[in-house]
Amino acid sequence: PNCPIIPTVTPRRLNDCTFLGNYPFHPHVSLWDSDEPVSRAELLKGVAGAHGLLCLLSDKIDTEVLDAAGPNLKVISTLSVGFDHMAMDEIKKRGVRVGYTPDVLTDATAELTVALLLATARRLPEGVVEVINGGWSTWKPLWLCGYGLSGSTVGVIGLGRIGMAIARRLKPFGVKKLLYSGRTDKSYAAEVEGEYVPLDTLVSESDFVVVSCALTPDTQGLCNKQFFCKMKNTAVFINTSRGAVVNQEDLYRALSSGQIACAGLDVTTPEPLPTDHPLLTLKNCVVLPHIGSATYSTRGIMAELSANNLLAGLQGTDMPSELKF
Ligand code: NDP
Ligand code: DGY
Repeated sequence: PNCPIIPTVTPRRLNDCTFLGNYPFHPHVSLWDSDEPVSRAELLKGVAGAHGLLCLLSDKIDTEVLDAAGPNLKVISTLSVGFDHMAMDEIKKRGVRVGYTPDVLTDATAELTVALLLATARRLPEGVVEVINGGWSTWKPLWLCGYGLSGSTVGVIGLGRIGMAIARRLKPFGVKKLLYSGRTDKSYAAEVEGEYVPLDTLVSESDFVVVSCALTPDTQGLCNKQFFCKMKNTAVFINTSRGAVVNQEDLYRALSSGQIACAGLDVTTPEPLPTDHPLLTLKNCVVLPHIGSATYSTRGIMAELSANNLLAGLQGTDMPSELKF
């Protein structure tokens, strides 16, 4: 069959004949052979007639792409656990199966979240800059003081796979109280002595607010003016979920007015964040370029899983990780 696979970050893998040779069919692969995202025009052109599509979170898979693909399309495999870039209702209506990459990136993303939290709360980027630019004059009692985890209350919004992995890693730092919010109470939260509370309670009582929920219509813009107004002015805000969960104008105001102490973001709207964005002028805001899952081994495993999801979808067999929706 003619099975174009459009953008991929695993060109060597997908060009590898031995890999494809394990399967009882030999798809025609149309490959976007670059680490840069495929252009919209190339995607729309290349997807025409495809039976399968392997995409990235930066590819918006909407009605236009589905129409461009046409009725052959059986499977979409995304190299991500998040699927907010895909028009799920439309995909479901067309009976297209979806593969994604849960679990395999949980540890890497939780680790990065902890790194970002510590870097933000203990002001590491500011400190590094001071060393380089000569701002380090001598040891001073109150210079570059920040906030520590010991004895603190941490609130996790969305105690899913990644949220729980973050909680597990933070507890040993001496966290006194672990609060979480979401749609449902989680029995597994007992392992970290997690207390299920309403969002308002979490926001007002936490010293560290960590966002690790999925982006949905309910969570879009969840962290807005009212949200930041309820936070302590010594509190640290961390987001490694999706940029659109945060109203960035409201976050800017909260940070610049001292409403909250500092923020660490691995995700923004848009991505990349323009270099002249107001958030980048703030010393108390640490912004990373969406690198939560970026370890060599995790990205390799994600690539292999998404390729296997795609191939299983093309063959009509069980996928290693199929999104049930
Ligand atoms: P899970 O599905 O395991 O967890 C998602 C969590 O979101 C669930 O606990 C769910 O809670 C919660 N949630 C859903 N709706 C709401 C709501 N209205 N209010 C509060 N919480 C809500 O997914 P993962 O943990 O694997 O991944 C989470 C997200 O992390 C991904 O969707 C992706 O956007 C992001 N991500 C970012 C990465 C990065 O590089 N920065 C890397 C990987 C993922 P409940 O179960 O109660 O519904
Ligand atoms: C995801 O998988 O959703 C991340 O944002 C990137 O790994």
